[in-house]
Amino acid sequence: MSAEPETILEVDRISKTFGGVNALEDVSLRVRERQIMALIGPNGAGKTTLLSIIAGTLSPSSGQVRFRGKRLNGRQPHERVTMGIGRTFQQAHILSGMSVLENVMVGCHTSGQAGLLAAALRLPRMRREEEDIYLDAVRYLNLVGLGPKADQDAGSLPFGQQRLLAIARSLATEPSVLLLDEPAAGLNRMEKNDLADLIQRIQEMGVTILLVEHDMELVMRLAEWVVVLDHGRRLAQGTPAQVRRNESVIAAYLGTEEA
Ligand SMILES: Nc1ncnc2c1ncn2[C@@H]1O[C@H](COP(=O)(O)OP(=O)(O)O)[C@@H](O)[C@H]1O
Ligand SMILES: [Mg+2]
Repeated sequence: MSAEPETILEVDRISKTFGGVNALEDVSLRVRERQIMALIGPNGAGKTTLLSIIAGTLSPSSGQVRFRGKRLNGRQPHERVTMGIGRTFQQAHILSGMSVLENVMVGCHTSGQAGLLAAALRLPRMRREEEDIYLDAVRYLNLVGLGPKADQDAGSLPFGQQRLLAIARSLATEPSVLLLDEPAAGLNRMEKNDLADLIQRIQEMGVTILLVEHDMELVMRLAEWVVVLDHGRRLAQGTPAQVRRNESVIAAYLGTEEA
């Protein structure tokens, strides 16, 4: 038997309060290398807050996040991106007025070595790097199926394709863990299917995925492990099948749109 895959990301007793509101209370979870883990729960459960704490755009009130065993507390979001933690947002945050390709190239710069000064001076080293960045960006665009749209204004893309573009941009930072915040929201059935295929392909490339998602069909299809949040607490965790028949999970979802 092969050894258990290692934990790549560990959330250890994280709490977060906003004023009087406990957005997260003592939440722990472990994401294993190359796993697709889903984080689900009703609106307001604390899912986005937890992704923000992992990405470093929010700091926890207490608790630790560890990435490959290293404590992340105090590290800036851009440092975490460089370490290999990529993220997409609930809103796609597409830069309109820039082309589809340029939107992905923006992501690539994070892993570039030349730095902003070299870029501003257009040093030869930078020109070579720009070529690499261009080729990488094309590669990521093709991966998400947007290659043919490379030269279009990103703002003119339909909603579903803007989401794919956001995924391509975060892939361009070469993450080993990708945090996806409701990537299927607002997509039609066919787009959801394509998205599921894409997420699977990304995982097969060796990327670990933490997926916040409302669409249970997608979660059941993709996730190896599911953590359920409710009112900021971890309500349950298990395989999709275990979570689906968990009484407290069913109760938490009653009266919501997932019922
Ligand atoms: N920046 C913030 N300031 C104040 N309260 C917030 C902030 N972000 C989230 N919250 C509150 O924290 C709770 C969890 O929100 P959120 O993480 O967005 O939930 P989810 O993504 O599961 O829908 C909610 O009660 C929300 O109102
Ligand atoms: Mg959210």
